[in-house]
Amino acid sequence: MFCAGLFSRTIFSFSVKLKHTNIFVMGSLDDAKKLAAVRAVDEYVENNSIIGIGSGSTIVYAMKRLVERVKQENLNVICIPTSFQARQLIIENKLKLGDLQTHPKIDCTIDGADEVDEKLVLIKGGGGCLTQEKIVAACADKLVIIADYTKKSKFLGEHWKKGIPIEVIPMAYLPVKLKIKEMFNGECELRMAKAKAGPVVTDNGNFILDWHFPGVGDWGVINTAITMIPGVVETGLFVNMATKVFFGLADGTVISL
Ligand code: A5P
Repeated sequence: MFCAGLFSRTIFSFSVKLKHTNIFVMGSLDDAKKLAAVRAVDEYVENNSIIGIGSGSTIVYAMKRLVERVKQENLNVICIPTSFQARQLIIENKLKLGDLQTHPKIDCTIDGADEVDEKLVLIKGGGGCLTQEKIVAACADKLVIIADYTKKSKFLGEHWKKGIPIEVIPMAYLPVKLKIKEMFNGECELRMAKAKAGPVVTDNGNFILDWHFPGVGDWGVINTAITMIPGVVETGLFVNMATKVFFGLADGTVISL
């Protein structure tokens, strides 16, 4: 275990040369996530705004930066969570918590992604929070995505090999799985829990199918077709939703699409 952890950290490491020295400081994927997160919070969070808070590991860095700015600039920001995890983060950081009942219109949602293609189509839901993430994103004027450089792809499936998550009503998981195979081919795998017997159960009490799709397609059409299958709650395909994507890079810079 120790060696495997060390190895994965090493292969994703990068170095940044310190000014006027020959010393290289080793960075990590976490540094890249942080760079993107800080940039998004600095550019997109304004005083007196409603901000959607995404889920995953990258959003933790955005929350840290948001807390700093709220304290330093005395910002008035209300945060709308996209998951149990996001709600916990907002409460633990003593930020103002809202919901879609009190604040159905959001100025900007900041969230992570599992993969982003050249047209800014996203795969989300690696952490199982896709449905609430999509609802909150759809209520926002802007959806700003933060990610490390491994999430940037020419086409979906180039780097992300875990498939497209699809949240389903539990009783329908098998018919949905068969229907997707019939319609589009590929294999849907019921996502299993790691520290519980049986499948992952989402924040909404549903199951997740990870669809290992056969190739590149018209994601708008595919998303609509899958969403129409009875029993499907939502897909992790976010088409025409992202306003901006920030990628933290290995050289310590950030690029945006
Ligand atoms: C949660 O279900 C996901 O959509 C996350 O937003 C996505 O998996 C990105 O997570 P990381 O920030 O951990 O990469």
